Amino acid sequence: MDKIKIIGGNALNGKIYISGAKNAALPLVCAALLSEEPVTLQNVPALSDITFLNSLLQYMGMKISESEELHDGYRSKTYTYQADNITALVAPYDFVRKMRASYYVLGPLLARFKHAELSLPGGCAIGARPIDIHLTSLEQMGATIEIKNGYVVADAPNGLKGAHVIFHKASVGATCNILMAATLAEGTTRIENAAKEPEIANLIDLLNAMGAKITGRDTSILTIEGVKKLHKATIAVVPDRIEAGSYAIAAAITKGRIELINAQAEHLQQPLRTLEKMGLDVETTDKSIIIDGRNKTICGEDIYTDYYPGFPTDLQAQFMALMTVAEGASLVTESIWENRFMHVPELCRMGANINIHGHASAIVRGVKKLSGAPVMATDLRASFALVLAGLAAEGETIVNRVYHLDRGYEKLEEKLKAVGANIERIKEED
Ligand code: EPZ
Repeated sequence: MDKIKIIGGNALNGKIYISGAKNAALPLVCAALLSEEPVTLQNVPALSDITFLNSLLQYMGMKISESEELHDGYRSKTYTYQADNITALVAPYDFVRKMRASYYVLGPLLARFKHAELSLPGGCAIGARPIDIHLTSLEQMGATIEIKNGYVVADAPNGLKGAHVIFHKASVGATCNILMAATLAEGTTRIENAAKEPEIANLIDLLNAMGAKITGRDTSILTIEGVKKLHKATIAVVPDRIEAGSYAIAAAITKGRIELINAQAEHLQQPLRTLEKMGLDVETTDKSIIIDGRNKTICGEDIYTDYYPGFPTDLQAQFMALMTVAEGASLVTESIWENRFMHVPELCRMGANINIHGHASAIVRGVKKLSGAPVMATDLRASFALVLAGLAAEGETIVNRVYHLDRGYEKLEEKLKAVGANIERIKEED
């Protein structure tokens, strides 16, 4: 399994292009199941999660063609998907086990083909991750759902019907799944307490471009008037706000200056405000964000993760890495996932001073320096937090289990090297 070796201490300076968002691309890819006509996605990040999902869709009979194009000055992938001969209505265990977001096939398959089978996703490193909201909402829309041999077996022989569904939590995944299902349902669906993440707006834009009738974008109440058929469309994946936030912290923690090109500041309001409060200079334009940490004293600050537009849970670990070397104390409260402090013991092995209280709060007391160490994380964002700690630490850090990073950070070493990091991948046979 590959490793990443970092020699810390270099201030990072320069430009980083932000890729398309993984968490936007995943539901967009599955939306292609809703039509027999081609759906083209531009600015798709080259990530293993996308490759996994593509292989699941190919298993189902999806035709996929791929090219590379310049999008906003950055070379990225364009995929065209055509679901005119879907032969398998099942997402088997081996795919779902590797990639939870495979559950995005459920809504589209059930809406268009009236049947779907999905290996029930289990918990994962960051928590139990139930999908009850997805399933009860589909039941309210007329589906019958059974759990058989570890699979969700869903049927809607007479098609899905519009319904009024109220989510008990503003789930991103359930919002995407029910939105997609409702586009082809008979009648009107109203989702209350829908998630409002920018990735959902991206999905709504694609679905409406395909002929869906969705109103309420960017609000917690979405109304979807079902249509008989969806047609071809093209859309670009929105820039990845979590990747942008992660590299913003790379500038901060190394006291450098990085311009994040194609980053959308409006999607990162809380994290950018937190960086400013911590003492960084933050400059934004409509197409970029500049983070300047040169000659700055970084101070501790509290964060509380919450649904968008609250502070994103997917940046909690990376901010914690920054807090380990800030002056004073910071309080981190994680309200979305019940087990998202797995990076704490590893950061402590690098010299950080962090105490966890219960399962939702951690106090970070800043130390003068971290020191490099071999480390490993159990999820994507925690792995990036260790990369950040390694960039700031004295000496050598080896980050193990690089496959987590490959799931969500396109060209990680290349992007960091280009701004002056001493980082390399050590290839190892499994
Ligand atoms: C998405 O996960 C993201 N994944 C996660 O990013 C992100 O952390 C999360 O949203 C929150 O922002 C993708 O987009 C692929 P949820 P998702 O459904 O959709 C509870 C990363 O690092 N819940 O919004 O699975 C759930 O337990 C990943 O890129 C239910 O109770 O998250 C959690 O507490 C990690 N029942 C809360 O809702 C359900 O049926 C939010 O989960 C569904 C969710």
